[in-house]
Amino acid sequence: MEGLELSGFSVDRAGFPIVRKVDLVVPRGQVTVMLGPNGAGKTTLLEAISGLIPASGGTAELDGAKINRASRVKRSRLGLAHVEQGRAVFGELTTFENVLVAAKDRDAAEEAFSTFPELVQRRDTLARSLSGGEQQMLVIARALAMKPSTILVDEMSLGLAPVIVRRLMPIWRRLADEGMAVLLVEQFAALALAIGDEAYVLSRGEVALRAPAKDLAARTEDLRSVYLHGHLPADSPLRGASA
Ligand SMILES: Nc1ncnc2c1ncn2[C@@H]1O[C@H](COP(=O)(O)OP(=O)(O)O)[C@@H](O)[C@H]1O
Ligand SMILES: [Mg+2]
Repeated sequence: MEGLELSGFSVDRAGFPIVRKVDLVVPRGQVTVMLGPNGAGKTTLLEAISGLIPASGGTAELDGAKINRASRVKRSRLGLAHVEQGRAVFGELTTFENVLVAAKDRDAAEEAFSTFPELVQRRDTLARSLSGGEQQMLVIARALAMKPSTILVDEMSLGLAPVIVRRLMPIWRRLADEGMAVLLVEQFAALALAIGDEAYVLSRGEVALRAPAKDLAARTEDLRSVYLHGHLPADSPLRGASA
């Protein structure tokens, strides 16, 4: 498959199972949304996909090739990018230099940079003097400058004003429409589901629910139930939707 596919993917941390036998598909051309309460294991899952920490079981395939044993650098060369949770910018470099150091080449840097008119205006400003929203745009631009075919995005909205989140969210829709595979981990459930294709909810390291994003968006009470209890109510129509 073109994109990312996990089968029975498990990750331990300090000897404890944190991610348990996750099956997940993140196809090219789609935004796959991953929701779930704090501590569910979302960040751990993404870190193991990108190779920051090892998986303890199962397989991860990128565009049909097994990547379990590939180094982080190799995975990035194969087209995988990871916007890490709470990732900081290089404060003493200018805005554009931040993108340039990560870029495949200068053209890729210019292209990624031009995604954000707000940054273009501040091209030669030291990154440390950017606002929180601008810094998050810069972190995203840096990942895009690597020209990824699959991107993992970990809680880009953390600490940002809702108005900025609304500004950023459509970018993932557009990149997916242009052919990228996007895995979007989010706490702003409604905004993420509005631009998403398929949605998963992770609970205590397991996929508690998988459903089309638009179906889940229409069932916020069911989503609450999965967050609070780890499963859907017995009468939820989403039970049938979950593959
Ligand atoms: N570096 C670590 N070492 C040991 N346990 C960790 C580490 N990071 C996270 N955990 C534990 O793993 C679980 C999942 O955390 P995390 O993946 O950050 O969840 P989420 O991103 O869904 O909030 C939590 O119980 C957390 O305490
Ligand atoms: Mg997290």
